[in-house]
Amino acid sequence: KTPEDIQNAGTLYMATNAEFEPFEYKDGDEVVGIDIEISQKIADKLGVELEVSDIAFDTLITALQSGKADIVAAGMTASEDRKKNVDFSDPYFDASQAIIVTNDSDITSRTDLNGKTVGVQLGTTGDQYCTNEDGENDISVAEVKRYSKGMEAVSDLLAGRIDAVVIDDFPAEKLVEKNSDKIKKLDEALTSEEYAIAMPKGSTELQKLVNEVLQEMKDSGEMDEIVSKYISA
Ligand code: ARG
Repeated sequence: KTPEDIQNAGTLYMATNAEFEPFEYKDGDEVVGIDIEISQKIADKLGVELEVSDIAFDTLITALQSGKADIVAAGMTASEDRKKNVDFSDPYFDASQAIIVTNDSDITSRTDLNGKTVGVQLGTTGDQYCTNEDGENDISVAEVKRYSKGMEAVSDLLAGRIDAVVIDDFPAEKLVEKNSDKIKKLDEALTSEEYAIAMPKGSTELQKLVNEVLQEMKDSGEMDEIVSKYISA
């Protein structure tokens, strides 16, 4: 859709997966977080209402392709793979994959994942990293367990059913915060990734508008303000 199509519809349809604090998560019935605030800015720029739908992470790209969503703001890494299927805005956040283990774990670095059972969120870059299909990464885990929610992976880690969880660094911090007496995040960064807003392929005009909003938010300091509201230094 073009910005004009969205203005005519009166609503910007944003799809996300609200299992990813601080970027998107549920506060009661409401979906809140950094990506929601950015999306609201895009809706404001267009002069339309924002409608957020919370769906499974591995269905977000399909939602764009089928026209159910105009944009996806989901802490989504702008990977080369995904660029074949969607257009991305300029990046708005730097991230990496991190390892969560129990406090008494013998896993202290990436290569200790070899031969272990690792939990990931289905369809994420953490999933791809651990699955290591093209043998790009110097690890070879015994089994990758895929969960629809990062929190479920952490529950299995706490229950001793898996040895580690691999998930994005800031969400990892938030997950650990809630159980810091039992689990910790290792300092090692496994990857270097950039989050961007995804749009259907060929969204040239919308992409331009989204990039403008992001640039304005960066220049005015608003982006930093929003981020620090959710991520305490
Ligand atoms: N950055 C990772 C990826 O793009 C994980 C994103 C998960 N986001 C979410 N809202 N659950 O694959």
